[in-house]
Amino acid sequence: MNDIEHHDYDVIVIGAGGAGLRAAIEAKQRGLRVALICKSLLGKAHTVMAEGGVAAAMGNVYEEDNWMVHFRDTMRGGKMLNHYRMAELHAKESPDRVHELEAWGALFDRTKDGKILQRDFGGHRYARLAHVGDRTGLELIRTLQQKAVSMDIDVFMECKVIRLLNGPDGSVTGAVAYWRPTGEFITFGSKAVVLATGGVGKSWKFTSNSWEGTGDGHAIAMWAGADLIDMECVQFHPTGMVWPLSVRGILVTEGVRGDGGVLRNSEGNRFMFDYTPDMFKAETADSEAEADRWYDDHTAGRRPPELLPRDEVARSINSEVKAGRGSPHGGVFLDIASRRSAEDIRKRLPSMYHQFMELAGVDITREAMEVGPTLHYIMGGVRVEPDSGSTSVPGLFAAGEVSGGMHGANRLGGNSLSDLLVFGRRAGMGAADYVEGGGGNDAKVDDLLVQHYMDEALEPFTREEGENPYTLQHDLQEMMQANVGIIRNGPELDEAIEQLEVLKERVQNIAVKGGRAYNPGWNLATDLPAMLTVSTCVALGARDRKESRGGQTREDFPKADPELGKVNFVQSQPSGGGFNGEIKIVPEPLPVMPDDLRAILEEAPK
Ligand code: FUM
Repeated sequence: MNDIEHHDYDVIVIGAGGAGLRAAIEAKQRGLRVALICKSLLGKAHTVMAEGGVAAAMGNVYEEDNWMVHFRDTMRGGKMLNHYRMAELHAKESPDRVHELEAWGALFDRTKDGKILQRDFGGHRYARLAHVGDRTGLELIRTLQQKAVSMDIDVFMECKVIRLLNGPDGSVTGAVAYWRPTGEFITFGSKAVVLATGGVGKSWKFTSNSWEGTGDGHAIAMWAGADLIDMECVQFHPTGMVWPLSVRGILVTEGVRGDGGVLRNSEGNRFMFDYTPDMFKAETADSEAEADRWYDDHTAGRRPPELLPRDEVARSINSEVKAGRGSPHGGVFLDIASRRSAEDIRKRLPSMYHQFMELAGVDITREAMEVGPTLHYIMGGVRVEPDSGSTSVPGLFAAGEVSGGMHGANRLGGNSLSDLLVFGRRAGMGAADYVEGGGGNDAKVDDLLVQHYMDEALEPFTREEGENPYTLQHDLQEMMQANVGIIRNGPELDEAIEQLEVLKERVQNIAVKGGRAYNPGWNLATDLPAMLTVSTCVALGARDRKESRGGQTREDFPKADPELGKVNFVQSQPSGGGFNGEIKIVPEPLPVMPDDLRAILEEAPK
């Protein structure tokens, strides 16, 4: 093993989106040896797809806003499946994290009196999203990246982690990776590991995720012994581009609706008025005139139905298209042109303006956009202890999209950027506390295990004949889109689980040709086992949660089941086995919410 590049750290952070950067900054501030490892280029992360803003109850636009309202909105949006403590910490700490970001150089849009401007988003009672036009995620990454680089955090980019390493006591001791540019292996010994690898959107055909979203962190965590929760809860963002086909799935920010954009079907009807669920009736306008008054004064009117939580809007669009009232290319129309001046649109939504102009030849200051649901986010993830981000594996921490619990069954827009700031910091703190407390002092890299994982990764090169990894990825995406989509049912989920077993067999027969340097076929071959493990978890959870709640919609169980609303579905591999190991799924009671928080929820929404 002497010829393999090796590094030792106190903390390694895997994934360099917002959560990873924030965790690395925190651990580094504690004087620890920290490395940040990412499989893509630094700064290229799904964080940038949270375009419209970061949710934080700062009360800059409506002083009535506060952490309690944000907490309540988040829990109701998540259909009460959220971990109450995560939602509490998130609501309380988001404002500080946004102000900190500002102090580190983020240039937010401003109110007339110089405060950070906040815009409306679905499910948020007040205008709450601090933003930089429609490029908020990008500004967040830019700011955190600059901060991390100024702190001399070691960065390993284009470096793909394939497995975590466990010690004899089960604790995490490091990771095995390879450099994408050379294909050479590299190992890390580390006392603590923070996972911040994002989601698994690339398992579906139409997604806002880029190539990196392959569920690496979820899978390597489970293979290393961690629990995953509520994996059935995935989010279809209501508005992705639907045309041209080559760009289908690219995100159209919720900021368009936040800034007044309305949804219409092919008959010109503002159809969202027909879809307000009982739970939100009291606070949702039932006429266009009332909805429009709300934009002028949120304390007077009721919210427009376009600003219902994402799960509701996505399902409504799906229903309109199914009923034959869709747009020519299978979406609906999103109109901002008739609602705002061209100048306003270009100023507040510059990326959307360019995106539609360049990719679709549509001028959104004059014409409506065609939009439809796109797989955007997974609410389920690695089970963490809320305050520290620790997992059930000693030394392993997780934050951001790869972790579960914060968003319950459905995430409110804008809550991901605040989530990754709040819990990225907390996971960095948790890892630092663990190391300072003597955790991981005996951590040693097991050479035999490393050799085993390297051999496994290189197997596709040893086959003369075999499956093309792209064919397999294509088949997975088609199957997940068809059977584990926005609306699910028992027979299709059973079919998905069967098909996933077939795909798992096929993945063991992948063959790749050429060298290891920048070999995208091989890179994909190393992504596929993770994609299949995580897709299986999603399908198993969706099969077992026989109800409709947030991002989990079952046409055969169209209502929420109060009993299932009391449990998380926990998935793990009690007998180990990694990719080939058996996955167990069990319902476990939600943590008991303290009375003071329950009282906040029971208060009528103002
Ligand atoms: O629509 C958006 O701008 C996405 C935001 C988010 O996912 O939080």
